[in-house]
Amino acid sequence: MRVAMIGAGYVGLVSGACFAEFGHIVTCIDKDAKKIEALRRREMPIYEPGLADLVAKNVAEQRLSFTTSLAAGVEDAAAVFIAVGTPSRRTDGLADLTYVYQAAREIAGVIRGHAVIVTKSTVPVGTGDEIARIIGDIQPNADLSVVSNPEFLREGAAIADFMAPDRVVIGTDDERAREVMHELYRPLADKQVPILFTQRRGAELIKYAANAFLATKITFINEIADLCEQASADVEEVAHGIGLDHRIGPKFLAAGPGYGGSCFPKDLLALLKAGLDFGVPIRSIETIISINDQRKRAMARRIIAACGGSIRGRTIAVLGLTFKADTDDMRESPAVSIITALQDAGARVRAYDPQGMEQARSVLNAVDYAVDAYTCAEGADALVVMTEWDMFRSLDLVRIRSLLKSPIVVDLRNIYRPEEMAKLGFTYVSVGRPQVGAR
Ligand SMILES: NC(=O)c1ccc[n+]([C@@H]2O[C@H](COP(=O)([O-])OP(=O)(O)OC[C@H]3O[C@@H](n4cnc5c(N)ncnc54)[C@H](O)[C@@H]3O)[C@@H](O)[C@H]2O)c1
Repeated sequence: MRVAMIGAGYVGLVSGACFAEFGHIVTCIDKDAKKIEALRRREMPIYEPGLADLVAKNVAEQRLSFTTSLAAGVEDAAAVFIAVGTPSRRTDGLADLTYVYQAAREIAGVIRGHAVIVTKSTVPVGTGDEIARIIGDIQPNADLSVVSNPEFLREGAAIADFMAPDRVVIGTDDERAREVMHELYRPLADKQVPILFTQRRGAELIKYAANAFLATKITFINEIADLCEQASADVEEVAHGIGLDHRIGPKFLAAGPGYGGSCFPKDLLALLKAGLDFGVPIRSIETIISINDQRKRAMARRIIAACGGSIRGRTIAVLGLTFKADTDDMRESPAVSIITALQDAGARVRAYDPQGMEQARSVLNAVDYAVDAYTCAEGADALVVMTEWDMFRSLDLVRIRSLLKSPIVVDLRNIYRPEEMAKLGFTYVSVGRPQVGAR
């Protein structure tokens, strides 16, 4: 089948490459000409494990191509996906649907015959109706099916998530669209992946509700971690103990500096605001957002306390900048608030991240960037683990200790073991676990 994917970002590029891998003929369209030129040179605009190889393979086998021309890409497509960004609107926190509606207007200008338009972007409930209206206004005779097909992939594991998802959600009550979508996802249906057909509005809500629930789990365990610290318990034991209960499950129970990234913060805010528009204030979401916001500054205070109460004039080494490992995405990373708070308190920040430094330069000011973790630690007054990159788990900690001016480690991802850190002579502060070493 021919597929057009509008937006070649984290979601569009991964989805496009994976649909091509299923055997479909996919055209990825992006209005960012630099991105398209880079992709044509086989240069990936994002860091995502395995993506470069998957793209190269499918381009070589002529199932995947890139263009800036929406008309060329959409022509003859059995399904036209919209995978453009839906950031928070600065003025009111609602989802900014400018890019989605712009894409809809552009599609309206080129479609002929029956067209299946699929929203992959995360959009508020009712957006599908508006897309249908926009296209219908421009082309009153258009024979349209507007489908919601939200994406659940995680950056860093995006290809595996797309190829073996827990479920595929497809919101439509149009029989022709249902057939097209079923055919598109047939390779997954054949592997017994549940393909869940729902009403369009239900599909739109499933995405927001899923993200809100996951963010709630993270926020919950973070508060339990705070309690563990005061009650001399270990949050890792508590998380393991509750996660073994099948009704709860072990995922998203890692205590840390608070959730971030390109999805949770904006999606929770959008859900909250949409709720208000429907006259339904979702108090739990309001609380989760506020707890998470406060947590980031609290992490900065934790670092300052570990350094004896003041960091003015001190150098803090930060390992990891991205909101999680295996991505270069800096959007809404907790590192941004925490580093800014450290700078506000008078510290100099030196940082190292294996993939995130390029993006970090545009969101952080006055940070020195190191070439590796050891150079980052050299002469620093404390070391902070901000992101759980695997390479930080296997550092030579004896060497790190000898490089630091003071042997203070604040581990916001619990990647080291307190007993070992104590043995190595560190003052070690983590999250929801006993502090070791002298304060
Ligand atoms: N990033 C994730 O992990 C993730 C996961 C699930 C869902 N989502 C959702 O998917 C959507 C896309 O997210 P993303 O992270 O891929 O965004 P992104 O910013 O990485 O990519 C969006 C791309 O769309 C392009 N674009 C915008 N308007 C266009 C137009 N009219 N024509 C052609 N191209 C256009 C932009 O140039 C950009 O390259 C969002 O709604 C997001 O919430 C993201």
